[in-house]
Amino acid sequence: MTAAVLTGLGTALPARLVTNEELSTRLDTTDEWIRTRTGIGQRFWSSGESTGDLAAAAGERALAAARVSEVDMVVLATTTPDHPCPATAPEVASRLGLGHAAAFDIAAVCSGFVYALAIASAAISAGLTGRALVIGAETYSTILDPEDRSTSVIFGDGAGAVVLEPGEAGAPGSFAGFDLGSDGAGRELIQVPGGGSRERTGADGAEGRYFTMRGKAVFKEAVTRMAGSASKLLASVGWAKDSVDLLVGHQANTRILHALADHLGVPRESVVVDLDRVGNTSAASIPLALARAAAEHRLRPGDRVLLSAFGGGLTWGSTALVWPELPIGTH
Ligand code: COA
Repeated sequence: MTAAVLTGLGTALPARLVTNEELSTRLDTTDEWIRTRTGIGQRFWSSGESTGDLAAAAGERALAAARVSEVDMVVLATTTPDHPCPATAPEVASRLGLGHAAAFDIAAVCSGFVYALAIASAAISAGLTGRALVIGAETYSTILDPEDRSTSVIFGDGAGAVVLEPGEAGAPGSFAGFDLGSDGAGRELIQVPGGGSRERTGADGAEGRYFTMRGKAVFKEAVTRMAGSASKLLASVGWAKDSVDLLVGHQANTRILHALADHLGVPRESVVVDLDRVGNTSAASIPLALARAAAEHRLRPGDRVLLSAFGGGLTWGSTALVWPELPIGTH
């Protein structure tokens, strides 16, 4: 059977570094609170770069890493598109010189990258497409309430992209399976209330244009949903928990990542932490974390890698792969 195989990875971050100390000068917070409650040490915020700009930069690096100049499909996971309409992916495809590739956005908030991987993999397995470029890119700094200390300290901007190519099921880099889920009853836990058809606002200064989050409730949901999804995935692909070398969870909070490892029964040492460097970059967090782990030689060819994400919607998803020999194009 044809399977999607990962052949290249690239990332991009905006130039502006925002430290905890900088945020502490204008918000009622401290570096100590942010580090101990979240694990975040710094983040990067756009100073003009759009989501599409970051997506194109990461996409270009992933294509170069995979030595590929043509793809048939571009899937962009984002909650912060360049415009409400049209999708950002077609412009990114055009900027990357990808001709008339099918291109569309996916809105699954912080689970978006795993959702996008699943869709592109299924399209490759079904023969609907050849090569695909899957991107997670965000500029949350554009939707954060600058006065809200509970969200401003958490989110960062960035992008990560992978090239998927048709290959053999079971080969290194092929995805062993996917588990995806949602629960819309929890939609108000993570929300931008305005700007859609329910509340047609969104102009500068309008109520409801900022991102809101009920942190405590989200924390619990994140742990139980990712643990449930990852366990289901491991059972369906036949991987024992103690065979997982690296756990790359959505980078929301180090305490969430450790609780996830404890629930799953995998050692905390297998957890990849990247939020100390970039904060929570939503759909970009998993590819950025993979690139960091590979750059630091924590992720080596042959390693068994478990990916698990959770986000607004509520949504969640998990997948697993044996890490391939992979060139990486980083920022
Ligand atoms: N600096 C200082 N104090 C802060 C703060 C900040 N940046 N943000 C919140 N606080 C305060 C709160 O106002 C509250 O004060 P109070 O006790 O006087 O009311 C106190 O800290 C505790 O707030 P709480 O929300 O209960 O803290 P917490 O331990 O749950 O940590 C989060 C808050 C947001 C870090 C945590 O809930 C979390 O990580 N949630 C999940 C986030 C997430 O996963 N998001 C993405 C999902 S895709």
